[in-house]
Amino acid sequence: MKKILTLCALTVLSASVSAGGNASAGKDKAAACAGCHGVDGVATAPMNPNLGGQHENYLYHALKSYKNGSRQNAIMQGMVAALSDQDMKDIAAFYASQKGKLTDGTLKP
Ligand code: HEC
Repeated sequence: MKKILTLCALTVLSASVSAGGNASAGKDKAAACAGCHGVDGVATAPMNPNLGGQHENYLYHALKSYKNGSRQNAIMQGMVAALSDQDMKDIAAFYASQKGKLTDGTLKP
């Protein structure tokens, strides 16, 4: 029983842990994205989503979905084509670590 409880606790813990990216590595890797999503994830134009302050797991999942085709967008499909799984994790960690409009209250209703 104790073993089962420990396993449960570990599962809960690992589920809440981030995607495991490295934000400082991600900063360099996100250079190609700044033209549309901004240097710090505040988009340069309304048609581009704000990424700064978004949840790391959300960002990683979005990038993975473009890469495997389950989310279709011509621009983003091209952008992720050359990214490795680790690149996507690092970039997700970088944008998640930025303040951005999603967390500074700007977008509150
Ligand atoms: C030419 C402009 C452009 C560039 C460059 C670009 N993006 Fe995007 N990005 C977009 C647009 C437009 C969307 C919305 C696409 C859609 O509707 O799915 C998007 C969507 C996304 C999303 C999903 C956001 C959400 O809220 O679901 C992520 C994550 C993302 N981009 C990351 C990146 C990364 C990382 C790079 C660099 C490797 C990058 N983008 C480069 C225009 C761009």
